[in-house]
Amino acid sequence: MTSDTTGTTGTTGTHGAILADSAPDDGDRPLVELRSIGKSYGNIRALHGVDLAVHPGNVTCVLGDNGAGKSTLIKIISGLHQHTEGDFLVDGAPVRFGTPREALDRGIATVYQDLATVPLMPVWRNFFLGSEMTRGVWPLRRLDVARMKETADAELRNMGIVLDNLEQPIGTLSGGQRQSVAISRAVYFGARVLILDEPTAALGVKQSGVVLKYIAAARDRGLGVIFITHNPHHAYMVGDHFSVLRLGTLELSAPRSEIGLEELTNHMAGGAELAALKHELGQVSGVDVEELPEEEELQPGAS
Ligand SMILES: Nc1ncnc2c1ncn2[C@@H]1O[C@H](COP(=O)(O)OP(=O)(O)OP(=O)(O)O)[C@@H](O)[C@H]1O
Ligand SMILES: [Mg+2]
Repeated sequence: MTSDTTGTTGTTGTHGAILADSAPDDGDRPLVELRSIGKSYGNIRALHGVDLAVHPGNVTCVLGDNGAGKSTLIKIISGLHQHTEGDFLVDGAPVRFGTPREALDRGIATVYQDLATVPLMPVWRNFFLGSEMTRGVWPLRRLDVARMKETADAELRNMGIVLDNLEQPIGTLSGGQRQSVAISRAVYFGARVLILDEPTAALGVKQSGVVLKYIAAARDRGLGVIFITHNPHHAYMVGDHFSVLRLGTLELSAPRSEIGLEELTNHMAGGAELAALKHELGQVSGVDVEELPEEEELQPGAS
């Protein structure tokens, strides 16, 4: 695994490669909906007035720079924090989760970047971590190892994940493979909504592709996916809807039909700020600003 997150050029121009022509945002009721959600930590206002809807079989991408409020947003949906403003609805009814367990019970599963796995334990053991299969009755209850291995193998294959040996410690898998196992695990345990917090942030191009593939697989199985990322290229490969956060508010919320990759990239880059930075850098000797886009190009067209 590498720390290269910028080498995404191999994926540009091929957007749509992973994306099947998926259902539009209309029609069915959202699995999860946020209406004018806000969150304050003491007197720090991390989020304000954010709307978001997650539909079955759709990928909703949440983009934004560091500190934009992405993690805060998913912490509310995953039951780690509670909102302080607005409404949070699951299947159309308002909810307020006290713990992540309550969110999980409603089918909302979260895969964090620092995956909660035990590196030295085999893949199949990690697959069932915390929800082990047992057989026999107490006091003779034992782990049903054979059934867990069999099930993990079948489930991973179902998602198109083929590993040579499920006995190998999960720590020996690549970052992309580990993310994939976590996605497949969430699907197996009945997730309807899958939240992924920057699953490709620490991965190279190829490994990112692997994860994007399984995001698409989860979507094709009818899950509503919330995909958090810094990377507009990755978002555009699989996304049906794009929400860009900026300083805790929604700067942009658009379905795929209304926004192109270029415009999305511009929004992410903060076009106006980049233009100012380019101007500033121009005064510094030794910096070649010619390589940067034209200042007009840096102004996002829609804002
Ligand atoms: N527990 C907390 N207490 C106080 N402030 C917090 C807390 N968590 C987040 N914040 C603040 O809320 C804002 C949004 O943070 P958040 O972690 O949601 O951003 P992010 O978009 O996930 O950023 P990154 O890309 O760096 O992960 C930041 O200003 C952050 O300092
Ligand atoms: Mg974050």
